[in-house]
Amino acid sequence: MRGFDSLIVLFDGALRTLAGVHRVQRASPAAQVAEDALDAHARAEAAALMRVNHVGEICAQALYQGQALTARDPQTRGTLAQAATEEQDHLVWSAQRIAELGGRQSLLNPLWYGGAFALGAVAGALGDRWNLAFVAETERQVEAHLEGHLARLGDADARTRAVVEGMRADEARHRQSALALGAAELPEPVKLGMRAMAKLMTTLAYRV
Ligand SMILES: [Fe+2]
Ligand SMILES: [Fe+2]
Repeated sequence: MRGFDSLIVLFDGALRTLAGVHRVQRASPAAQVAEDALDAHARAEAAALMRVNHVGEICAQALYQGQALTARDPQTRGTLAQAATEEQDHLVWSAQRIAELGGRQSLLNPLWYGGAFALGAVAGALGDRWNLAFVAETERQVEAHLEGHLARLGDADARTRAVVEGMRADEARHRQSALALGAAELPEPVKLGMRAMAKLMTTLAYRV
């Protein structure tokens, strides 16, 4: 019965993520930031970047769910659960910003979710040290990726920047807490493989 219960919880989490019905713990960092006057091109570009970030947050939900399911140590599980809650805020913030910019979410979201969940479950099954290693490396790559978006956005769009900066600060903390819990260092080929997958995902999500 326990297995069946956790299956229901997982299914519920997946539906909430894909339907976008998560509740936020913290208001968007953009809440107090005035909207800049953007031309159509700048709006479309910012919306596409936020679509990519939203896909990243869909994957974060799936990854953390997959990992929390298989993590052994209660402290590790607790840290993963706390990070997952903050990732829910990111999911909502980026969805809000896409809507404000008049953009749309990725049509491939169910696919991204499924793939990331499977990865998270595999990482979790390898044991906590590797599970945390995967978290730390993912967050490091996301941080670098958000840094790149900030450079592309420039100074003209303070509201989008505020969301991206808020998420980047959280991702940095997620990486540090994974390291503090004893994350191993992933082998270089694994990191390269993760980067290649992320590249494919972000390229696709920018368009579809
Ligand atoms: Fe995030
Ligand atoms: Fe994160």
